[in-house]
Amino acid sequence: MIFAGIAAGGTGTRMGAELPKQFLLLKDKPILVHTVEKFLSCGEIDAVFIGVHKDWADYTEELFSKFAGSCKDRLFILPGGGDRNDTVFRIITAIEERFGEQGDSILLTHDAVRPFVTKEIIRENIRLAEEYGAVGTAIKAVDTIYDSEKGETIACVPDRSRLYQAQTPQTFRIGLLKECYRELTPFQKARLTDTCSICAVKGHPVHLAAGSPLNFKITTPEDLKIAESLAEN
Ligand code: CTP
Repeated sequence: MIFAGIAAGGTGTRMGAELPKQFLLLKDKPILVHTVEKFLSCGEIDAVFIGVHKDWADYTEELFSKFAGSCKDRLFILPGGGDRNDTVFRIITAIEERFGEQGDSILLTHDAVRPFVTKEIIRENIRLAEEYGAVGTAIKAVDTIYDSEKGETIACVPDRSRLYQAQTPQTFRIGLLKECYRELTPFQKARLTDTCSICAVKGHPVHLAAGSPLNFKITTPEDLKIAESLAEN
């Protein structure tokens, strides 16, 4: 089977809004609804699981009772965890509680606040995950990146031609991701915030799918303004 896991367990401190940023309106609907619709409208995806901050689980249930329409039976909402990876593993537990062990199945994990993901990006993730087991979406870095310890002086300037900006989806065979995670030390578990790095540190190649500059993460009030103008157009 093919599942989407939407990581919506954050509170959006950098946005500084009254609601977690995934619930802010973009045109006529909350950002989270735009994002979830992208996956529900993809025929390849059997079910979508949303890991949402526990204080917002009832609110999210109510939201999707309005917006999910005929897709309700493919949508499941659960409380997320203390960090993004914790939310992803709670989603995996919820998938396996409902559908049984899913080692061979594919899970696309996606940030709730990247509503401009496209069907092409989703399909490329599925294709590569079926072939290789672990996939990260990325775009080539366009800016030169400085490495600096405290933001005061430059330690070094990494070769830009080797640098990519990570996006989501990050997509895995569920069994492979669980196995790599099980082998991490508690220190690694606490330190690794990026789901792809769970496979990468265990030596499993993570293939790259082509992202898009429009598939950006809405993080700050400035990002929200850009997203609003894109949604209008
Ligand atoms: N996320 C999650 N569970 C957490 C923390 C984050 O599912 N415990 C999700 C967020 O909801 C978001 C994605 O991971 O969709 C990327 O995280 P980020 O943009 O950092 O979101 P927030 O943690 O909400 O924002 P901030 O860091 O500004 O507080």
